[in-house]
Amino acid sequence: MGLKIFMDGQLIEEDQAKVSVFDHGLLYGDGVFEGIRSYNCLVFRLGAHVDRLYRSAEGIRLEIPMTKEEMRMRTIETLKANNIADGYVRTIITRGVGDLGLDPLKCAKPSIIIIAHKISLYPDEFYEKGLKIITAKTRRNSSFALPPTIKSLNYLNNILAKIEATDAGTEEALMLNVEGYVSECTGDNVFMIKNGKLITPLIESGALEGITRRAVMDIAEIKGMKVEEIMMRPEDILSADELFLTGTAAQIVPVIELDGNKIGRGNVGEMTKNLIEDFRVLTKTDGEKYAL
Ligand SMILES: Cc1ncc(COP(=O)(O)O)c(C=O)c1O
Repeated sequence: MGLKIFMDGQLIEEDQAKVSVFDHGLLYGDGVFEGIRSYNCLVFRLGAHVDRLYRSAEGIRLEIPMTKEEMRMRTIETLKANNIADGYVRTIITRGVGDLGLDPLKCAKPSIIIIAHKISLYPDEFYEKGLKIITAKTRRNSSFALPPTIKSLNYLNNILAKIEATDAGTEEALMLNVEGYVSECTGDNVFMIKNGKLITPLIESGALEGITRRAVMDIAEIKGMKVEEIMMRPEDILSADELFLTGTAAQIVPVIELDGNKIGRGNVGEMTKNLIEDFRVLTKTDGEKYAL
């Protein structure tokens, strides 16, 4: 038996969950989404994910036909219906069915889709040995074109950079904004540690307001670490003691090399290891609980 998918008000079988070829989510990437994780029946920072989903929707003037409270409830309902304690939820809001023209006003009603799946974990090696990454030639979208704070269904900017990463035999690629400052990676935020300080690019540099990013900053502040958001230059990274990426799926992944240059001593840093451990602890308490 396949998964049960929440789609437009009801849970349906996976093979029945289909979108129209006239949905503007498909035709134009017109829509928004979220990636959410549950840990042992605790949905990590669900409220923050739902808030970001609605902010993204507002950013493209899409009104989600559901309250935030119901969205949280439906997320949990979908996890429960699939008997998932540890999983990954993909919530998708498409503009809905329209004609072949661009006009979103001609789309009848946004579609709400929630997919709850077992999480496919990254190999342990990523965390134990750290990643080697490259800087992509593809620049992050300008905020004047498509603000990176909007988690839209149009991820081609990130995909182009991801292709560069794959071509280079790496897992991730660092993206700079059009001015040449560091923004983020294709699907993760980026952090460096220098002289005991935690430093990350400002959201204004073209980064998504990552839920994991915020959580790591919260942890660091509680530990008494100094946290700074800056306009980060690529050369700042080369002088970092430690480097790591954050994201819902990846959590915290150490990076040991950028464009062939070693970061720090070229191995996984102690402070990064500590943050990984603290984050693991946080996922046991910080979320919305459900029972199976
Ligand atoms: C472009 C981009 N940056 C950063 C992130 C990390 O954000 P979060 O920690 O909320 O998953 C993601 C993943 O959602 C992403 O797609």
